[in-house]
Amino acid sequence: MSTLAIEGLQWGDEGKGKITDYYAEKAEVVVRSQGGDNAGHSIVHKGHRYALRLLPSGVFNPMVTNVLADGMVINPSALSGEIEGLKAEGVGEFHLLISSRASILLPYHIALDHAREEALGKAKIGTTGHGVGPCYEDRASRIGVEMGDLLYPGYLRERLASALTIRNKELSLYNVKPFDLDEVYEGLIEESKSLLPYITDTSVFLQKALKEKKRILFEGAQGAMLCLTHGTYPFVTSSSPLATAIPLNTGLPLSSVSEIVGIVKAYSTRVGAGPFPSELEPEEAAVIRERGHEYGTVTKRPRRIGWIDTAELRYAAAISGIHYVAIMLLDVLGAVGEINIVTKYLIDGKEIDYMPSTVTEYASVKPVYETLPSWAEDISGITTYETLPLNARRYVEEIEKLTGLEAIIISVGPDKDQTILRKEIFR
Ligand code: IMP
Repeated sequence: MSTLAIEGLQWGDEGKGKITDYYAEKAEVVVRSQGGDNAGHSIVHKGHRYALRLLPSGVFNPMVTNVLADGMVINPSALSGEIEGLKAEGVGEFHLLISSRASILLPYHIALDHAREEALGKAKIGTTGHGVGPCYEDRASRIGVEMGDLLYPGYLRERLASALTIRNKELSLYNVKPFDLDEVYEGLIEESKSLLPYITDTSVFLQKALKEKKRILFEGAQGAMLCLTHGTYPFVTSSSPLATAIPLNTGLPLSSVSEIVGIVKAYSTRVGAGPFPSELEPEEAAVIRERGHEYGTVTKRPRRIGWIDTAELRYAAAISGIHYVAIMLLDVLGAVGEINIVTKYLIDGKEIDYMPSTVTEYASVKPVYETLPSWAEDISGITTYETLPLNARRYVEEIEKLTGLEAIIISVGPDKDQTILRKEIFR
C-alpha cells in the first residue's frame, strides 16, 4: 500500500501527531489538507517535545516532502513563526510545498472570530480563536485570498480591498475598529516574504507522486466529531477532518487514499462547548486530566474528560470506512480502579445503539456503560501486546468487539518506543 491517512475518531487531540510522526519515518510525502493553526500536534522527537500547528509532522525527516494542501487555511505570520522556531531548535532541514490554492488567514478573521464568540455569550462555540471559521467563510463567500495571490501583489491588494469592504462593515456592528487596507496589505507582504519560494500547485506535485507510487501519508487535524457536516454541529470546526475529504482538499482522485488508521484515545476528551454524554464529574476528570496532561496544545485550555464512547466510534468509523485503529494513552488508565465504556445510549428510556443525528437528541442521551477493572501495573515500558496485563488486553479487546475495529497500534507513552505495533500496514 502506498498511501495512508491518519484520522482522529473523536473530538481531536487523540494523539494523531505521535502516530503521524511514527509513519512519517516510512513516508516520502506528508500532507496536511484541512484546518489551520487551530490544530496543535505535540510530538516527542529525540526526547524533545515540539508543538506543530501548521507544519506536517514529516519535518523531522529530511527525506520527506511536506505539503500544505489546497483545503488548508494558512496564517502566514503563524507559519513563518513556526518555521523560524523549528530552525532555532535545530530542525531546519526540511522540504516544504505550500498550495497556491490554500486560503490566507488574516488578522480580520481573528478579530471576527473573537467578536462573534463574545456576541454569542453563553451560546459560544468555544473556538480556538484563531480565525479559522471566518477564513473558511470568506472562501465560501468568494471574498477570500489565496496563497497564490501573494505572487501577484496588485491583484492581491484588490482582493483585500473587496474583502475589507465587506468585513469592516460586519466588524463595525461589533464595535471593532475597521482594518486599514494598507496596513493589512503591507503586513501580509512582509510576513509572507519567506514563504514565497514554497508556493506552488501542490495538486500537480501530489498527482505525480501518486503515479510514481511514492509513499504518501495524509495527516489529519481535529477529529471526526468536529467535522463541519458530520460532527456535533454547531459545535464543530469549519472544515472536514474526515479522510473522505482528502481527495477534494488535495486535488487527488477518489482512489488516492489506500488505507486509513483511525486514532482513538483510550478515553474521550473535548475542548470547547457541545454535548459530551460520557463526560466525567470534575474530581474524576481531574485525575485523568493530570495523568494524561490534557490541556490544549494551542489554547492551553483544560480539556473536558469522558469515558470512551463506542457508539460515537462506530459512527465515526462508519462515515469514513475505517477498519484499523491506534489506541492512544492506554497507560493513563492504569490504576484508576474501574473503567467505563459507553456501549449504547438511552433516549427517553429507550435503548439506541447509534449516535443520534441532531444535537438536541444527542444532548439528551444517557450513556449505557459496561464496566471493566483497570490494572495496577505501570505499562509505559511494555513493548509487546502479549506482555500487557490481562485487564489492559481485555479492555482493548472489548473496544475491538464493540466497534468492530482492529487495534493495530497501542500507545503506552509519548515516546516513539512506547508503541506496541500489532500489524504493519504501511510498507
Ligand atoms: P475552531 O476550529 O477554532 O473554529 O474551533 C471550533 C471547535 O473545534 C472548538 O470546539 C475547538 O475547541 C475545536 N477544535 C479546533 N481545532 C481543534 C484541535 O486541533 N483539537 C481539538 N479541538 C479543536
